[in-house]
Amino acid sequence: MGVRFLSTGAGLPDKVLTNADLEKMVDTSDQWIVERTGIKERRMAAPDQATSDLAVLAARHALETAHLTPADIDLIVVATCTPDHLFPSTACLVQKALGAVNAAAFDLSAACSGFLFGLSAVSGMMEAGMAKRALLIGADTLTRFTDWKDRGTCVLFGDGAGALLLEKTEGPSDLLAVHLGSDGSVSDILSIPGGGSRHPLGSGVGEFPPFIHMEGKEVFKHAVVRMMEAMEAALKKCGKTVEDLALIIPHQANLRIIDAIAKRLKTKEDKVFRNVQKYGNMSAATTIIALDEAVRSGRVQRGDSVGLIAFGAGLTWASAILKW
Ligand code: COA
Repeated sequence: MGVRFLSTGAGLPDKVLTNADLEKMVDTSDQWIVERTGIKERRMAAPDQATSDLAVLAARHALETAHLTPADIDLIVVATCTPDHLFPSTACLVQKALGAVNAAAFDLSAACSGFLFGLSAVSGMMEAGMAKRALLIGADTLTRFTDWKDRGTCVLFGDGAGALLLEKTEGPSDLLAVHLGSDGSVSDILSIPGGGSRHPLGSGVGEFPPFIHMEGKEVFKHAVVRMMEAMEAALKKCGKTVEDLALIIPHQANLRIIDAIAKRLKTKEDKVFRNVQKYGNMSAATTIIALDEAVRSGRVQRGDSVGLIAFGAGLTWASAILKW
């Protein structure tokens, strides 16, 4: 008993913010950004677009691909750290926009690892008999929480949403293994200090702004070590090796992190997916948008084994091995 993967979808804003655009906003250069991160451009939500709007685009895309209607869905989970509001949940706004009247809906927060934490939660709920068909969405608009004067962070992030449609099956599960991990003891190296209940907006915003704070070098080191650990743990759980995987999709935060992982996994360059050049780091949307691109371009075929790895604030890290 387990889950089957029916389809994927993506929802990206139209606006492209290039490195040349950023050169006009902060003291940076296309050369520095490309050399240090690999990023050439990223997408940015329009002023009237919030996280739920991108999530709805991704959800509709996945539903159309699977030839299903919103009424066929009985669970909607949105992994996001940039919800439209503190409440109601973004998932409830998605339910309303889709007209998914039969679905229970809630959000889940594990920052950039959110989609894979969501995959673990949704598949567990389905195996426990709590849902038959679910929409799992990873969606974030980190550009709304970016300090556009901080060149150390503003070049890194983009907005987007990706969706996965899952169905309960009595047969063997297409989710072969999941591994999750967290380390809250270093939560301060990557955070949005203000805007929550610790430092609410309107009280001391100057000292605790609602913008991304990151100690880049520290985060980099943890990212490589934890993503490697996560991949090895998930492979071990399902008795597979890197050679058994058709494609590995690591979180797309920085090309140098992805290259370091590819080197340590001792695998061919083209087995490790890269699209960070086009989108930057889209947080919880990253791995699912990458999977959607890989499936639509034919890089992942039905029956292929795929490894997904994520890392994010918390700290959190996660991996999954799935049979597409
Ligand atoms: N343009 C030009 N120069 C920049 C710059 C920019 N956008 N951002 C930083 N710099 C400068 C710094 O001020 C510093 O200058 P200094 O030597 O005069 O002090 C120099 O470049 C080196 O900065 P540093 O922060 O040490 O660079 P780095 O090689 O560590 O690269 C990151 C910075 C952010 C790209 C890198 O640390 C990183 O990717 N970290 C992980 C990020 C991540 O994965 N986050 C999300 C996890 S989910």
